[in-house]
Amino acid sequence: MIPTSSQDEGPKDVPAEELLSIGQVSERTGVARSALHFYEEVGLIASLRTAGNQRRYPRHLLRRISLITVGKQLGIALSDIKRALAPVPMDRLPSEEDWIRATAQWKLVLEARRRAIEELENRLMGCIGCGCLSMQACSLLNPADQLSRQGSGARRLDAED
Ligand code: FES
Repeated sequence: MIPTSSQDEGPKDVPAEELLSIGQVSERTGVARSALHFYEEVGLIASLRTAGNQRRYPRHLLRRISLITVGKQLGIALSDIKRALAPVPMDRLPSEEDWIRATAQWKLVLEARRRAIEELENRLMGCIGCGCLSMQACSLLNPADQLSRQGSGARRLDAED
């Protein structure tokens, strides 16, 4: 057994043969070590530490990391991926029920993503037909008139000076 994780929801007392080094996880998932560090930093994954302070990941996290990769490929924000994976525990081997709960959560996230893409598509079609490229009127070029918060004038041209 490896010492308990310092994180509350991190893995607990996992048999050594079920633990992988960061290099092994990177090789198995195709995710760079730096990305794994970042995922851990933002709470998407958790690891245990050896006596020498090296990271060890329970084998069951491979599935979780693969789902993070798929979510990213679909353009889903990491915060939404984290929400979708919330029902899947990291401190033990997830059960079938955990994955069923996560599936329902993923459906909600994907549905929201689909609606956002549809809305963007509708706005883009409108803009292609319109062609005004107005910084005041075009919600695609200047959503919620964000540029006006930076001050008056040609904000984008000013920034290029
Ligand atoms: S180009 Fe006219 S509204 Fe977007």
